[in-house]
Amino acid sequence: MPTKPTTTIRIDPDLKKRAGEIFDDIGISMSAAINTFLKAVVRERTMPFDIKTDRPKPHTNSGNAKLNHAFIVKKDEFYTQYEDVEKEMLNHRKQLKGKTILCNCDDPFESAFFRFFVIHFNRIGLAGLTSTCYAGSPMAGREYPLEGGTSAYKAVVTEVRDDTIVRPDGSLDLESLFAMPGNSLVHLAGDGDFRSDECEALLAEADIVATNPPFSLFRQYIDLLVRYEKDFIILGNMNATTTKEIFPLFRDNKVWYGESIRSGDRKFFVPDSYPLNASGCGIDENGRRFIRVTGVRWFTNLETSRRHEPLELTHLYSPDEYPRYENYNAIEVGRTQNIPIDYEGIMGVPITFLDNYSPDQFEIIMLANGNAHSNVSSKTLSEAMYRQHPEDKGGVGIINGQRSYARILIRKKSL
Ligand SMILES: C[S@@+](CC[C@H](N)C(=O)[O-])C[C@H]1O[C@@H](n2cnc3c(N)ncnc32)[C@H](O)[C@@H]1O
Repeated sequence: MPTKPTTTIRIDPDLKKRAGEIFDDIGISMSAAINTFLKAVVRERTMPFDIKTDRPKPHTNSGNAKLNHAFIVKKDEFYTQYEDVEKEMLNHRKQLKGKTILCNCDDPFESAFFRFFVIHFNRIGLAGLTSTCYAGSPMAGREYPLEGGTSAYKAVVTEVRDDTIVRPDGSLDLESLFAMPGNSLVHLAGDGDFRSDECEALLAEADIVATNPPFSLFRQYIDLLVRYEKDFIILGNMNATTTKEIFPLFRDNKVWYGESIRSGDRKFFVPDSYPLNASGCGIDENGRRFIRVTGVRWFTNLETSRRHEPLELTHLYSPDEYPRYENYNAIEVGRTQNIPIDYEGIMGVPITFLDNYSPDQFEIIMLANGNAHSNVSSKTLSEAMYRQHPEDKGGVGIINGQRSYARILIRKKSL
């Protein structure tokens, strides 16, 4: 086997000592750290971080719309906070017990998912954990470099020693984790794309999928999980609910929101190369870049107690306050909390209704938006007594000749 050549570099002794102490804390050698840096340079074809005289200050003058846009078009490299993963997953611990978990859009050593499941492996009673890392991830191999091969790999865990897994500094002791006979860390044959044959084979074997998939591939991702009839708890953006692939899953009660996260924004770590040019961005006390994203939700088909909590209704119907659409036999309800207690017909409510949707209380009929006409059956259209309007662009509700926002058409269930 060819040996790797030794390279001599001149380094200031004090710099070497200080950096060496940090690498000791992280648990990697100076040589591994330098190799990681050089790999990042080759992968990104530039310096893997900005070279500036001082740290960029987070901008505070641009709106969340910019962030949401970033969420859709940027690099899909948003790393979930541990607290967000922990809060949701602990609600599902009974459902997770005895199960094999797959994190197939992950990066085990950067991901809060991998960390959570390793730390809680024995407490929850997991049967196994597999986490795959995509070769395109700019974080790949950053914390725990694997020699040779592509940067796509899989971490398989079937046993964890609770007393040694978390080091005093809070990091995971990965060396001893992967030294255990039931665990392994190996290169994948391909690039780790969740749609590849080898990753689909891992999906077929898993019981529950938990991850934060790339937003730009969210529809394809959910479609795959549904095809494989998998249980899942994954992070996404509520904008996805209005797509023709995902809305029917909500309507048919095959997907709903998880127990946590119903409002506000969420913080995500981003790679060092990520521009911090929107409000809420920053660099934390550990030097990690983060952004804030609104509209984040857990999408799941694991049962939750929250979706059986009825929405408390306090408003009474009056024709003046609840105008009727010209193209549907339904009334407009501009805010979910204003759903009238005494109206039995069809109502158009905002997309945020899904935050409070209980299938015991309401049925979802259809999405009234610009594509409604082509996305639902003629039976459903006739149930909502839809008639085409010159202004409705295929199905959005019309009030006084004006197009309304996209609405979910719902009806109360008779109890
Ligand atoms: C939104 S990030 C989330 C990472 C991690 N699950 C977390 O939250 O900490 C999406 C991850 O999917 C990876 N990814 C992007 N495209 C992918 C693909 N086609 N197949 C598998 N993973 C992919 C990215 O490299 C990234 O690590």
